[in-house]
Amino acid sequence: MVHAFGGAITAKRIQHRVNNKRLTAYVNGSFLPLDEAKIHIEDRGFQFADGVYEVIACLGGKFLDIKPHLKRLEHSCQAIQMKLPYPADRLESLIQQLYQKNPFEDAMIYMQITRGVAPRSHTINAPMKPSLVMTVRELPAPSEEKLADGASAITIRDFRWGRCDIKSIALLASVMGKQEAARHGVDESFWLDDDHHLLEGCATNVFAIIDGTLVTHPLDHQILGGIMRDMVLRTARSENIPVQERPWRLDEEHLSECMMSSTTNALLPVCHIDQKTIGHGKPGPVAKHLRTLMLKKLEAFRNS
Ligand code: PDD
Repeated sequence: MVHAFGGAITAKRIQHRVNNKRLTAYVNGSFLPLDEAKIHIEDRGFQFADGVYEVIACLGGKFLDIKPHLKRLEHSCQAIQMKLPYPADRLESLIQQLYQKNPFEDAMIYMQITRGVAPRSHTINAPMKPSLVMTVRELPAPSEEKLADGASAITIRDFRWGRCDIKSIALLASVMGKQEAARHGVDESFWLDDDHHLLEGCATNVFAIIDGTLVTHPLDHQILGGIMRDMVLRTARSENIPVQERPWRLDEEHLSECMMSSTTNALLPVCHIDQKTIGHGKPGPVAKHLRTLMLKKLEAFRNS
């Protein structure tokens, strides 16, 4: 039996057929079968990508780091001068209700808030009622092969906008980056700034081990403050692994490992970038150690 993030688990996993008709979505106050859940064509999310989102992992009915996720959602909303449609505790209760209406034990909840419906005009002419949409899917698990061999990636010059700290639903650049990764037969594209520093992936944060130190780009407008990034850094610090939040490059001397983190993957070693081998080409000792510790924490949380 394999844990959603790819580790061994003791708890029994509920088996369900996944059939779209049986999944339930939340749309603006109603719980509906997924294929009946609809949004207005003049929703500003559809017309301008005028909205923000979160993806939250749920392990056996418990939502991982829900408070930091809702705090980040609030940050994203504030940054675009939009109000949360409900206070955080009401959102938490809706998330819980939606989870219970869906057939997964380990799940990821997608929640999207847009500014609302109005005749198309770039300017926000009047306060609007925000739209809230949520869906639930099974939390994916990396394959045994991926865990044994590590993931792979390419690098691309960053052509996204200048506020990547906002979890915006405007994800066209990320879609293009992921497609480019798929075209190269790899898992992720890492964005590079003009000085070839690795910023983050299309849907991941990225780290290196350089001379025994865990290095990752600092929190600024060029990256999303990942919830798992935070867990990786906390885990490393608790193990007395030195941590530096600073710009870094792949050609730095003594770079021995790379890894990436996200809500959907926890932490994955990355062993090939731009077709070059990182370290020995297999998951390195620090990445393996951190991943093991994180899976232990997640398992403890699941069983708490
Ligand atoms: N993406 N950076 C970017 C650009 C992301 O889109 C994500 C997450 C992360 C990692 O953040 P977290 O640890 O909070 O998941 C970093 C989600 C999973 C997505 O778009 O599906």
